[in-house]
Amino acid sequence: MTRTLKVGIIGAHSWAEKAHLPGYAAHDRVELAAVCDIDRSRAEAMAARFGIAAVYTDHRAMLADATLDMVDVCTPTATHLPLSLDVIAAGKHVMSEKPLHTDAAPAFDAARQAREQGVRTKLGFTFRYSPAVRRLKRWIDDGTLGDIFHIHGLEQNSQFLDPDFPLRQFDVTSPRDRLIPASIIGYGSHLVDLMRWLGGDFAAVASSMRNFVPERVVRGLDGRQRFQVEDGTVALVEFAAGAQGMLQTSYVAVGNYPGIELRVYGSKGAAVARLVTEFGVAETLHLARADDVEFRPVAPTADDLPPGTDLGTPWPELYFRNLIRFFVDEILEDRPEECTFFDGAKSQQIVDAIIAAHFERRWIDVGRP
Ligand SMILES: NC(=O)c1ccc[n+]([C@@H]2O[C@H](COP(=O)([O-])OP(=O)(O)OC[C@H]3O[C@@H](n4cnc5c(N)ncnc54)[C@H](O)[C@@H]3O)[C@@H](O)[C@H]2O)c1
Repeated sequence: MTRTLKVGIIGAHSWAEKAHLPGYAAHDRVELAAVCDIDRSRAEAMAARFGIAAVYTDHRAMLADATLDMVDVCTPTATHLPLSLDVIAAGKHVMSEKPLHTDAAPAFDAARQAREQGVRTKLGFTFRYSPAVRRLKRWIDDGTLGDIFHIHGLEQNSQFLDPDFPLRQFDVTSPRDRLIPASIIGYGSHLVDLMRWLGGDFAAVASSMRNFVPERVVRGLDGRQRFQVEDGTVALVEFAAGAQGMLQTSYVAVGNYPGIELRVYGSKGAAVARLVTEFGVAETLHLARADDVEFRPVAPTADDLPPGTDLGTPWPELYFRNLIRFFVDEILEDRPEECTFFDGAKSQQIVDAIIAAHFERRWIDVGRP
């Protein structure tokens, strides 16, 4: 018998429309049943566009629907944790946009509460669901690359190079006389998660953070503002399993979205996954062997791609359709969980260590929960 998953979504604006909702709509075992936004007109617009029957403006009213199996949280950052905790308390599986919280401790606690309630969690670490990144992970796990020596991770693009392009998710009450971590939080949480997924736990980090654009427009204030926004971070990583890592996040490096590049070098081979949309192609993957040192392109197989997509599909839809396909199938087929709230908390803990390493000008051991 084919079971379907009844899904509700909280937050019905741009990212929900572009990434989350198309993912559920494309899955043949999902019934998109409810949508909630404090702005009713947004909820109604998404209900009309995606054929969703129930519209709410209060998420508690939506969570009272006992027939919903899973709820997706696609709202601004500060609301991810409280809304997700309400979903967990209602006994439903939960998918949340990242970050769950900007401190690791409450995120670890949410992971514990989900475990106790027996519900599954998924964090929106979009890039784990890139076909190239998943293939790279398989090459590490199946020994294709051999013992892993080096892992290089970049997340960089020129989204905020123009000082008049408003910086989002910025606390306008931040002090103006010191560096405010930004790219390492916005981009770094994804990148650290990817590097930890590929290379295992981080043991220690050292880092340097800098402001490059001294005045910029920030959402919520008029005109250019003088804040020391961190627009670039570099970090060195010692992995617990022995590999060396280098990491960079940048808001001001010329290049297109999303701007992720992962290079993994092992005793038997090396691979480079490049998630940069160029000339209509979302990503590329290259592999070299120890005895054949030239990197050759590797195309994804049909299994790597969500049905109905190819590398010409815009990356938000391509990766999110894959993420949602994996989460729905995980739940319906009782598969092992991955990319959970616990992983989000670990990523936050490592980002915190990278920030501390800069301010304290020293190597920081990454703690254990
Ligand atoms: N994973 C990625 O690559 C990626 C990319 C883009 C955005 N995001 C994240 O996705 C989230 C949503 O992004 P967006 O651009 O659509 O944000 P947005 O602020 O444009 O929209 C959020 C919507 O949530 C609604 N909302 C706020 N609080 C609510 C509540 N308590 N109950 C119900 N509705 C509520 C708002 O009215 C709004 O319509 C953000 O956290 C953003 O950081 C992730």
